Amino acid sequence: MSSTPLPPRPSPRVVRSVRELRAVCDEARARGLRVGLVPTMGALHAGHLALVRHARQRAELVVTSIFVNPTQFGPGEDFTRYPRDLDGDLRKLAPAGADLVFAPAPEELYAPGDDTRVHVGALTAPLEGAHRPGHFDGVATVVAKLFAAVGPCVAVFGRKDYQQLLVVRRMARDLLAPVEIIGHPIVREPDGLAMSSRNAYLSTEERARALAIVRGLDAAARQFASGERDARELERLTRASIEAVATSIDYVEARDADTLAPLTAIDVRAVLAVACRVGTTRLIDNVVLGEDPRPLA
Ligand code: PAJ
Repeated sequence: MSSTPLPPRPSPRVVRSVRELRAVCDEARARGLRVGLVPTMGALHAGHLALVRHARQRAELVVTSIFVNPTQFGPGEDFTRYPRDLDGDLRKLAPAGADLVFAPAPEELYAPGDDTRVHVGALTAPLEGAHRPGHFDGVATVVAKLFAAVGPCVAVFGRKDYQQLLVVRRMARDLLAPVEIIGHPIVREPDGLAMSSRNAYLSTEERARALAIVRGLDAAARQFASGERDARELERLTRASIEAVATSIDYVEARDADTLAPLTAIDVRAVLAVACRVGTTRLIDNVVLGEDPRPLA
């Protein structure tokens, strides 16, 4: 017996201009629909798609933005070679439930003469902020622009970029943006490696070495579950695993999970965050001790 395949879901509508984006979102809101936003830089993987599916549950119109934001890359970072694949992204987004893809040219978000940056304070000082100067100004600025253009009632961000999630929450609160910020758990490959568009840069051999990151975080989570509360000891365990394979380590730090303040003993919960290079590829990962399940459990 032959079965007729279901017709493919139509590709999400692609809009390039803020004007058109606003028209669609305004109309949806006027009809009483909730608008959800998932900001991305494209080269989509299952982690991004999980965010889109989550937004789908919370909103009737789901907008995914695909924009490799120049202002969040430092000189010498991978802006020009960042993977770009709009056609592939559109094919993946249709079944995940995205209605609209906003894929602007850089001039659409940064008009000539653009001279405003959004700076979030203390949360941007440590960790990524210490190693990527100006990075979070670029992130906070582009996300503020996207909020202004879309007017979402919910926006979904991944906890893979844990500090970014806190920075965006702070920015939205301080700028009175009427949007609920949702933090989605990290989506991992079956062997535990955190999914990332930058994993595409890894050779097979580097991909295998990169597993030491999640193994190190898992070792710390296991010790935490057995009662270890000394932040330096938990950092040491993670670092020992990563040191064996990383080309360089930017940080392995346990910090307050809400404020990112330094701590010595962990009371209830703390984020243990890592950034390192495997070959030339910079990878980040984290676990929230006292909250997340063990990453390799
Ligand atoms: P990008 O790296 O494309 O990530 C887009 C969103 O997907 C972010 O919220 C990120 O945390 C989330 N994400 C990435 N990998 C994930 C994983 N393995 N599990 C769960 N979520 C994951 O982050 C950015 O783009 C940009 O800084 C952006 C917010 C779009 C501003 O330019």
